[in-house]
This record gives sequence, C-alpha cells and structure tokens, in this order.
Amino acid sequence: MDTAIPNDLEAFWMPFSPNRAFKADPRLVVKGQGVHYWTTDGRRILDGVSGLWCVNAGHGRPEIAEAISAQALALDYAPSYQVAHPKAFELANRVSAMMPGGLDHVFFTNSGSEAVDSALKITLAYHKANGQASRTKLIGRSRGFHGAGFGGISVGGMQANRKDYGNLLSDIDHLPHTHSLEHNAFSKGQPEWGAHLAGALEDLVYLHGAETIAAVIVEPMAGSTGVLVPPVGYLERLREICTRHGILLIFDEVITAFGRLGAGSAAERFGVTPDLMCIAKGLTNATVPMGAAIVHDDVHAVFMDAPDGATELYHGYTYSGHPVASAAGLAALDIYAREGLFQRAADLAPYFEDAVHGLRGCPHVIDIRNIGLAAGIELEPRGGVPSKRAHEVFVEAFKSGALIRYTGDVLALSPPLIAEKDHIDQVAAIVKSALEAVD
Ligand SMILES: Cc1ncc(COP(=O)(O)O)c(C=O)c1O
Repeated sequence: MDTAIPNDLEAFWMPFSPNRAFKADPRLVVKGQGVHYWTTDGRRILDGVSGLWCVNAGHGRPEIAEAISAQALALDYAPSYQVAHPKAFELANRVSAMMPGGLDHVFFTNSGSEAVDSALKITLAYHKANGQASRTKLIGRSRGFHGAGFGGISVGGMQANRKDYGNLLSDIDHLPHTHSLEHNAFSKGQPEWGAHLAGALEDLVYLHGAETIAAVIVEPMAGSTGVLVPPVGYLERLREICTRHGILLIFDEVITAFGRLGAGSAAERFGVTPDLMCIAKGLTNATVPMGAAIVHDDVHAVFMDAPDGATELYHGYTYSGHPVASAAGLAALDIYAREGLFQRAADLAPYFEDAVHGLRGCPHVIDIRNIGLAAGIELEPRGGVPSKRAHEVFVEAFKSGALIRYTGDVLALSPPLIAEKDHIDQVAAIVKSALEAVD
C-alpha cells in the first residue's frame, strides 16, 4: 500500500470543507475494502457513511473494477449525441426496470447536481411543449439539498449554500421542512406528526396560481440536511396536490435510490410515484461519476410529439451515458441484485435503529431519527456556535477509527448495505465515546 503523504496539500481546493483546518491536520485515505478505509499511516477506518452516501455495496468490488477496466480497453469513450454505444441503453433499461411503473426514460448525467438541473429543465420544457408556458415556477423545500448547481441551490433550502451566490434562479418558492424537535424528536422511522405540512403547497398554489407552477422538488428523505424522514402520509399528500393542480413532482433520490431505505427507491418504499426522479451516487457504487434524471412516460410522451427528425430536448453533457460509467453501473446493479442488498438493508434496519437510538441519553444529544440504513443524531449547538461541537465529534470519531458525517449540528450515519451487525455496534460505540469526549 502506498502510504506516502503528498508533500503539498495547497493546490487542491477541497469542496465543502474547512480547507485550512484540514490541511493543518489532514485525514487522507489511500485504500478502501469492504466497509473500511485505510489511512496514509495505515490505520483502518470503519466507513460509517458509505463514503458520501454512495458506496452502497462496499469498497473495492472486483466485479466493478473489472467491468471498468474491460470497458476502458474495449471502448473508452463514445459520444451520446447522434452516435451511441449499447451499454448506455442497457443500463437505462435496467434502471427503468427497477423503478416504479412509468418511470421509463433515463437521461444520463455525471452527478446528482446535474441530474437535478436536468430534471428541473425537463419540467420547464415539458410545460412549454404541452402548451402551458406560463408554468415556470419551481418549488423546493426549506432544508432541501439538491446539489451545488445554480438550479439546485435555488430550489435547495440550505442557507449556507445559497447566501453567497446572490444571482439565483428567480422564479422560486419553498415549502416548509417537516422536522420539529417539539413534535417528532426521537422518532423511529416515519414520524406520525407533520403530514399536514404538505398542505403548504395548497397555499403556494393559492398565492401564485397553479398555472404558474411547473414543479415541486423534494428529497423523499432529506439526507444532507440531517436525515429528515417524511412524516406518515406527507409524500402521499404532496403527490395528490401536485396531480390535482397539474404540477410535476420530482423526487431527488440521489441518496435514497439503490437500497438506502431498504428498497430500490424511496418511491417504491413509500408507494408514491413521482413524475421525475433524480439519481446518482449508488448508481455506479460511486466508482465512476454518473447520475440521471428519470422521466415518466406521460412527461416523455409530450416531447416525442415533436416533428419528425427534430431534437426533442436541447440538453445534455459530453459524458452523458459514458461507456465506462455505464459499465460500472451495470456491474453495480448486478451486485445489488445478486447479493439482494436492498433487502439486506431492510433486514438490518431494525438492528441499526436500536443501535442508534441506544445513543439517546449520551451527552449533547437532543434528537435521533432514522429510516432504513440512515440515521441523524442531532446535538445541542455549543454556545450558539453552529457545527463546532459536531465537527469535534467527527474529528474525534475519525481518530478513533470511524468515518461519520455532520451537517450543522446533526451527525449522520449511513453504513454500506453490506455492513454486519458488529460494524453497526462498532460505529455506535465510537460515536458514543466521541460524544463523551467533547464538551
Ligand atoms: C439529494 C441530493 N441531491 C443532489 C446531490 C448532489 O449530488 P452530486 O454531489 O453528485 O452533484 C446530493 C449530494 O449529496 C444529494 O444528497
């Protein structure tokens, strides 16, 4: 194993990171296998967050590595503009087959952010093609995270990601988020309280007029803002209001697709089918960047009414449906199916739930919430300074051998779907010690 530390960390401007603090005390990993990373100094780190909610089948899967290598040798690149290669079609078919009925058309991107931008653009173009060009308003949700593009941060609801970039999309509004420490703290699975908050969409329809609203985008379970689990009945209600008013519903499933909630998608898990779905991360088990906007037949059909020979959608990326990413995606889907990993996640979820709720009563913990193999542990901010305590817990946990995540003052856990009970116990024990170690 090459354990050399790069001698200069200056040039790489790291995303979403305190660069100066990191570079003063770096955490560098050089190997990943199964549920573990290894650091430059040879320490083994239990991956409690599947990398970044993405390495669902665990690290170092030879089947995926071999598929990537074979594809790069056979056909390294082909455009998807007017020429194409078979594996992109094969992967699109496989993805659509595992999604709820009607979600049959897959527009490939290279990331979740691009999947979101693509989905938003498709909804606008859809309404225009459908004779309702006045529908231009996009509705997101407070505490939503939809990636880092201008579209995503505009509909997104994380203040830190928006406040420095004044020139956001203008025709935007937001629903309230569904979390309430007062009403649903320490919920296990879907909270009972909060379905009524979907009714805020009715207020926006009343305020703006349905004829101005193109789409609503939500994460069925919001991961990046601290694991906000949809209240019982909430998504059903959103679906019903959208349908009634001709508004397209987009589920951003960049985190939730491919097993995180114990099913192929959150749509399947909750029995609510959106008009469009954004995916990425687990699609290739994170080995090669790839995402997609998946479009329902009814939406797609409107585009296919364009005159013969016309380009139906002026949108795409050089690497849409990249051959190496497609090969990685096919190999990842094979693993998920062969090893029954979505069911495995569902089977492990109750054990995981008990383990994380076992942290109730630890210092600083004011809420714990979970669903599938995802959990958020919310801490009391120290002295009104957001994130500081959570950052220290994160650093402490890494020192003690576990990678976890935090946003604001919420710690997040999302172990690979191949984790054993023992790994869950280990990560919970490390988090407990880290909580006890910080003040
Ligand atoms: C729900 C959601 N949407 C979009 C994104 C952005 O994906 P990417 O970082 O691949 O652009 C993320 C990333 O965490 C996400 O969680």
